[in-house]
Amino acid sequence: MSSVLIKGGRVITAADDYVGDVFVENERISLIGESLSDTVEADRVIDAAGKYVLPGGIDPHTHLDMPFGGTVTVDDVESGQTAAAFGGTTCHVDFVIQPQGETFAAALDMWKEKANGKQVIDMGYHMAITDLNDGGSLEELAGLPEQGVTSYKLFMAYKGALMVDDETLFRSMQVAADSGALVMVHAENGDAIDVLVKEALAAGHTEPHWHALTRPPETEGEATNRAIQLARVAGAPLYVVHVSCREAVEPIALAREKGWDIHGETCTQYFFIDYTHLEQPNFEGAKYVYTPPPRDKANQDVLWNAVRTDVLSAISTDHCAFLWDGQKTLGRDDFSKIPNGGPGLENRLHMIHEFGVRAGRISLNRMVELLSTNPAKLFGLYPRKGTIAVGSDADIVVFDPERKHTITAAGHHSKIDYNLYEGTEVTGTPEVVLLRGQVLVEGDELVASPGVGQFVARAKFGEELKAETAMA
Ligand code: URP
Ligand code: ZN
Ligand code: ZN
Repeated sequence: MSSVLIKGGRVITAADDYVGDVFVENERISLIGESLSDTVEADRVIDAAGKYVLPGGIDPHTHLDMPFGGTVTVDDVESGQTAAAFGGTTCHVDFVIQPQGETFAAALDMWKEKANGKQVIDMGYHMAITDLNDGGSLEELAGLPEQGVTSYKLFMAYKGALMVDDETLFRSMQVAADSGALVMVHAENGDAIDVLVKEALAAGHTEPHWHALTRPPETEGEATNRAIQLARVAGAPLYVVHVSCREAVEPIALAREKGWDIHGETCTQYFFIDYTHLEQPNFEGAKYVYTPPPRDKANQDVLWNAVRTDVLSAISTDHCAFLWDGQKTLGRDDFSKIPNGGPGLENRLHMIHEFGVRAGRISLNRMVELLSTNPAKLFGLYPRKGTIAVGSDADIVVFDPERKHTITAAGHHSKIDYNLYEGTEVTGTPEVVLLRGQVLVEGDELVASPGVGQFVARAKFGEELKAETAMA
């Protein structure tokens, strides 16, 4: 097994910021110190002077190769994870969607099959529960954490597709309270939205911006509060995904102030894309049809404030990519048929570093916490992942804070035909990305071959994933 010495970089974790050398052996960080080249001999030396040495990004919310909206997301495990690697993300947690009528075991097998041989980075799975009547049972659900699937996801929206009723939500929370899983919710009131969508279509409103007009922020606020209160009754920890607006931030802020076990994430796009993007002519607005929808711009400051003050604990991408030409166009004559989802796996670090850190909204330590350490802690990956420490996996990004980079769809490694941040110029980009000590990306090149990534059996909520834990 080869060894790597990363020399003289500015090592930044959620808590620390110092210049030092990091020595990697057998996939793990084995030594951190000063002038290590005097004491160790490495197969490869990476000069990181003037660069940041960051723990690999962890994206807790992605949808690769997922059937949804009458089609399948365009990025499979290989293309999605390649894009992730170029963006400094070395681990993600993807959603297994339980097909109705199928057991959780069958669903998990299907998703593992999709990943087989294609993995570029490490990954875990959340289980999205759609059916506790004819498919999965509460008993089977209770057994998932023992298999390293330690989070359950429930959709409170997408009526007639993924949405569950409150009984299913509540029973799943009760199981989670005992099994050690974290409950995740997509919080929107699906029933009210369904009425609004039908009314809009009946009135002849078919354009993309009606996606937002039929999903007002109050429907997100109501569902967020409902999920919080139900989680309290069940005694389960709760994580609210893709928080987009003040109406959802406020109940989470209140819950955290009271010390309840409530956590929330937002996604990169909510800081940059607003409602007006949906109004772009010639069906361009469909590029921004994801859920919850882009909100009025005033919410962007609310979200920056929430991630700065730890009301929201993580920033994910909710990468759920559909081609504009051929997939989004399924809804050319009916906004409700536009597949919901947007891309983003490659640009989370670029965008948050530029407009979060460089713009003075958050510190470098907080950026690391939001993009890596907190997702690792919340989803049972820490301290094996999410930090730079002796014994941790050597998932490391050598980041050049001076190098300029223009974000374009053309220069993208995803299969998507557009980019939400098209033309944005940033200063700062990953230069070398390592996965368990192996160089994945060097400059503009993918160095490793698909197959290097592994499934990670995650620890239960609140427990640590030890370095010795075997990978399946
Ligand atoms: O529009 C979105 N967010 N698509 C992915 C599914 C979900 O709701 O997370
Ligand atoms: Zn969702
Ligand atoms: Zn999602």
